Amino acid sequence: MKKSPEFNPCQVSACLLAWYGHQGRDLPWRRTRDPYCIWLSEVMLQQTTVAAVIPYYQRFLARFADVRALAEAPLDEVISLWAGLGYYSRARNLHAAAQMVVARFAGDFPAELEDLKSLPGVGRSTAGAILSIAFNRKAPILDGNVRRVLCRLYALSGDPRSTVVEKELWRRAEELTPEDRPHDYAQAIMDLGATVCTPRSPSCGDCPLEGLCQARARGLENVLPERRSRKTPPTRVQVALLLERDGRILLQRRPYEGLLGGLWEFPCAPAEARNPSAAAERLLDELGLAGRLRSAGQIAHAYSHFRLDLHLFAGRVEGVGRVAEDDASCWVAAAELAELPLHGAHKKALGHLGAISQVFF
Ligand code: ADE
Repeated sequence: MKKSPEFNPCQVSACLLAWYGHQGRDLPWRRTRDPYCIWLSEVMLQQTTVAAVIPYYQRFLARFADVRALAEAPLDEVISLWAGLGYYSRARNLHAAAQMVVARFAGDFPAELEDLKSLPGVGRSTAGAILSIAFNRKAPILDGNVRRVLCRLYALSGDPRSTVVEKELWRRAEELTPEDRPHDYAQAIMDLGATVCTPRSPSCGDCPLEGLCQARARGLENVLPERRSRKTPPTRVQVALLLERDGRILLQRRPYEGLLGGLWEFPCAPAEARNPSAAAERLLDELGLAGRLRSAGQIAHAYSHFRLDLHLFAGRVEGVGRVAEDDASCWVAAAELAELPLHGAHKKALGHLGAISQVFF
């Protein structure tokens, strides 16, 4: 799998640090050393790109200025501010981790790897990022960007997520991380991966490591890292009911535990693609409601592990049937629907409400 490269790890950090001095990005979380802010940014960045994270990061800090404010906030509010970033278990972990920092560490972020890793949602790489960026302590990181840089630098073949390559990557990451300036080094290698050593068409001509890169030397920069074969995700078919009563629409909240936990949705149920209206009628009946349902369109949405085909049905109902009067169900004025955190397909369904509003209003 590997041959020892003809360079010394110190050369890599020296080249990277010199490059970072003039090419590093000015990002909001780089203007602080507060471990709370660094942790927040790292958890958000597990999720998506820098550009997408910036407004979320700023909104979060405006609302939760420190770890105590976050720990004391209702989970609902945290989930609302997270809505749009996806992977909602991360928002729940964020909240739980804040509570743990307050309860176990008196509100001070720990500066030890094992303590950081004990926080929900903080793995080895995120813990390494917090240690190096917030505390300037030597700790390797291995996020997606760094993984790609190292696979190319050392021309590592094989699935980068396989145990054997993963182990080699951590070993290399550890060996490269300098004692001196780990804070700058961590940001430098992440920036290189994000801006130069990109997944497709890397800009090798602009890369400070071009002369050291084993993949470049062998013309493999567009081949490595090896791509994982992606299986086609399964498709789930469901129906969702847009039910109106006295100008309000019924929404239900998913249980906090599990997939998309805590997010809101229209009442929905599994269905057969060839006869969704049967499932829609059954669901209406289970809710103890009566009314004439009309087909109101169809939505396709890709979640991380499956694709959802959602058939919409709309109808006007009276009474409350068996819909529980609790905080997991509510009848919401149409104008207020967009304020609740709905998950992907159901958020798209909001766009269909306008089209069917003449049915209701
Ligand atoms: N990706 C993950 N962490 C990052 C950081 N601190 N800066 C830029 N991109 C990142």
